[in-house]
Amino acid sequence: MRNLLVLAVALASCGDNEIPRPELDPVALVDINPDPATVEVELIAGHAMHELLPGKPAEVWAFRDGSVPNSVGTIPGPLLEANVGDRVIVHFRNELPEATTIHWHGLRVPNAHDGTHVSQTLIPPGGEFRYEFVLIDAGLFWYHPHVNGDVQVERGLYAPIRVRGGVEPEVAADRVFVLDDVKVEASGALSNTVDALDVMLGRQGNVLLVNGRSDARLTAAAGSRERWRIVNAANGRYFNLELPGHTLRVIGWDGGLLPEPYPVDSLVIAPGERYDVLVELEGEPGNELVLRNVYYDRGHNIPDPGPHELLAVELTYAGRAPAPLPDHWGEVAAISVDQAGPTRAFVLREDAESEAEAFFTINAERYPHVTPVSARTGQVEVWKLDNETEMDHPFHLHGMSFQVLDDSLTVPRLGWKDTVNVPREQTVRIAVQFGAEGRWMYHCHILEHAERGMMGELVVSP
Ligand code: C2O
Ligand code: CU
Repeated sequence: MRNLLVLAVALASCGDNEIPRPELDPVALVDINPDPATVEVELIAGHAMHELLPGKPAEVWAFRDGSVPNSVGTIPGPLLEANVGDRVIVHFRNELPEATTIHWHGLRVPNAHDGTHVSQTLIPPGGEFRYEFVLIDAGLFWYHPHVNGDVQVERGLYAPIRVRGGVEPEVAADRVFVLDDVKVEASGALSNTVDALDVMLGRQGNVLLVNGRSDARLTAAAGSRERWRIVNAANGRYFNLELPGHTLRVIGWDGGLLPEPYPVDSLVIAPGERYDVLVELEGEPGNELVLRNVYYDRGHNIPDPGPHELLAVELTYAGRAPAPLPDHWGEVAAISVDQAGPTRAFVLREDAESEAEAFFTINAERYPHVTPVSARTGQVEVWKLDNETEMDHPFHLHGMSFQVLDDSLTVPRLGWKDTVNVPREQTVRIAVQFGAEGRWMYHCHILEHAERGMMGELVVSP
């Protein structure tokens, strides 16, 4: 995959009438393996400085490329870029002051490489671990620690994974946007305080980031079509994206392309979820479009703070008119569900020991004091996710994707998900076909909830 480097250099030096350089894009990890079907990278987690507020460098924790001399940690961490079918080898080193792991969110990896405390020994400060897996699915995924997650991810340890393959629509730019919010003090430093509201809703950041920047902007061609792959890496914030005057065409989700794309005027992205959209940038050269975050009612009577500008898109020149769209998109076979077959219920609840000490349970159990769910590879079950609380929870399953059967608020669509929002006081049913053997976690992706009990284990045997 060395040719990608060449391409990156070519893009960086292009003139006025060519594809704009994806200036906001995360840098890609350098592939040190000459075999075109293997992507081998060196990854380090450690201290870094980053401007969460422009001009105010702050100390954060971040990933960097260990194969690049003098590389520095970035937020988000470097993009892992590969093709479906590639073998990925990650030589990871922990330079943090505490133990960590890396979880490859959404990838179907062997259990020993899933990066949780039930699938591997924690990597101590100064320790190393070699992760290795083959990429089964194309799409946008992401990686982050799975130890002390609410703290480690908040400090900056998260990064995107783009796996190419399948239908590739013709676009003027294929961009990755990693969304986050951080709680920042006036000095620009990350706040270490966690108040009752942060526990209840997930850390409430006062600064919103697109690819690590609170002042994100990029240039694009007027009239062109772009592909935006978006992941919500925030601990607890729900994003609701809107590009006024534009429709976003959703072509893919967590686990890859959909068989049938659909249009939306605004796009809710719960923590952990990914969306793959096409957008045709209407306007004249010289115009500026603004991607903004608008209110989403996630429960607990959270007031509407008004729209927030996330990203400025400056149209610099007239682009080429978009090519016709492909006739076929993703191929997804529906999991066949026997209506009389097994259904398993998961009841989500919140509780509190005191005003300040909220905790969260699944089926009245508070992790780690849980009874694992047992299953066999290949079996199908319907999981009924029953949210009895007054706020939404995004439910995530490791190791395998699922299909949403019904969701009382939206039209269910065929496609692969690994994270689904369960709206407050609602039930969502999903079909799960159990995949690889091993001990897999499932949990709410509001990391403060996961770390305070809303987590369970699924044991799949052959
Ligand atoms: Cu992205 Cu278990 O998490
Ligand atoms: Cu939750």
